[in-house]
Amino acid sequence: MKFNVRLEIGNYCNLKCPLCIRERGFVTKDMLNNLHLSLDDVKKFLPRRVLSFKSGKFPIKTVILSGAVAEPTLNPECIEIVEYLSRYVFVVIDSNGSTRNVDWWSKLGQTGVECGFGVDSIKPNNNKYRINSNTDKVIENMKAFAASGGKAKWKYLPYKHNEDEQEEQQRIAESIGAEFVIIQPRPAKNVPVDASKQFPEEKNVVHYVDNNSPHYYCKLFGTVGDYLIEISPEGIVYPCCMTAENIYCAYKDYFISGNTRVNPSEEYGKAYKVFKETIVPLIEDNGGITSLSLHHHRIEEILGGGFYQALVKSWENKYHYCKNNCVNGKYEFKADTL
Ligand SMILES: C[S@@+](CC[C@H](N)C(=O)[O-])C[C@H]1O[C@@H](n2cnc3c(N)ncnc32)[C@H](O)[C@@H]1O
Ligand code: SF4
Ligand code: SF4
Repeated sequence: MKFNVRLEIGNYCNLKCPLCIRERGFVTKDMLNNLHLSLDDVKKFLPRRVLSFKSGKFPIKTVILSGAVAEPTLNPECIEIVEYLSRYVFVVIDSNGSTRNVDWWSKLGQTGVECGFGVDSIKPNNNKYRINSNTDKVIENMKAFAASGGKAKWKYLPYKHNEDEQEEQQRIAESIGAEFVIIQPRPAKNVPVDASKQFPEEKNVVHYVDNNSPHYYCKLFGTVGDYLIEISPEGIVYPCCMTAENIYCAYKDYFISGNTRVNPSEEYGKAYKVFKETIVPLIEDNGGITSLSLHHHRIEEILGGGFYQALVKSWENKYHYCKNNCVNGKYEFKADTL
C-alpha cells in the first residue's frame, strides 16, 4: 500500500463556492488569504528523502496539490513546487482554472503535470456554484495547458443549473484535448442537485464515498485504494478531509496567531461537539497541535506517533466522531493500522 499526500500550498482563493469550508463560517476571514508555502517550505515538509521512498513504512506515490481552502495555482511558486515534486513522485493539481493567464498555464503544462479543472456552466452568467469564475477563461487556460503537454481533466460538477450541459461540455473538453470526468456533486442549499441524476452506470464518474462498497474504509488507514494524508499550509498533518473544518475550529487561535490552546467556544454544531469530545483529547494527550506539525517534526514521526496510534485504538469506543462519519450503521468499519 502506498501513500497519497494531499498538500495545501496556501490559503488563497479567488472564488466563493458555497460548499467550500471557506464559505461556511467555520474558517473565518482572519484565517484566510495570508499564507503561501514557499518552495523551501515544501522541501522541508516533503524532503527528497521521503519522496524517494519506494518501499518501507511511508512510500509516497502521489502528491495532490489541493486541500480544503486553497486554490493552488495562486501560489507564486506553484510551478517551481510542481517541478520539484515531479522529479520524485506523480503530481496532480486540483484547480478552479480561473486564475492567471494562458502564458502561465502553458508553462505549467510543460511540466507534464496532471490538472483537474473544476468547470461550472458554459452558459453566460450561470456560474451558480463556482461563483466569480469565468468559464471562457477556464477553457482558454485548459486549452493552453493541454497544448503544451499538461494532462488536463475537465471536471463537470452537475447541479440543476447546468445539468443540461453534459454533452456539450464533453464535446468541448474533447476538442481541446482534455479528459472529461463527472464529479458527483455534494448538495448545496442554494445550488440544488437533481436527485434523479446519480450517474450509477457511467464509468467516468468520481464518487467521494463509494456507496456500493460493502466496507467503508478510513481514508487515512486504508481506503478502497491507497492511503491518503492531508497536510495543511501551516504544516499540520491531519487525518482526512472530513476532519479539516473541525481542526480549524478547535485550533482557531493556532491558525490565526500560533497560540496552541483549544478553542473554548462550543458554537460550531453537533458534529464539532463529538469531534471535540473524542478526537481533540487524543491530540491534547499526545503533545497538542504542534505534535502534528511539520515545522516541529518529521512526517514519519507524526504518522508513527502518539496521536495516530491513539486514534486507531479509540475506534473501539462506541461514541466516536469517526463512527458518525464513516460507520453509520450501513458500513462495517475496517481499519488497517500503520
Ligand atoms: C476545496 S477544492 C480545492 C482545490 C481547488 N480550489 C478546486 O476548487 O478545485 C478540493 C476539491 O473539492 C472538489 N469540490 C469542490 N466543490 C465540490 C462539490 N460541491 N462537490 C464535490 N466536489 C467538490 C474540487 O473539485 C476539488 O477537487
Ligand atoms: S475554488 Fe476551490 S478553494 Fe476556492 S472556493 Fe471553490 S472549492 Fe473552495
Ligand atoms: S473520519 Fe475518522 S475514520 Fe473517517 S476517514 Fe477520517 S479519520 Fe478515518
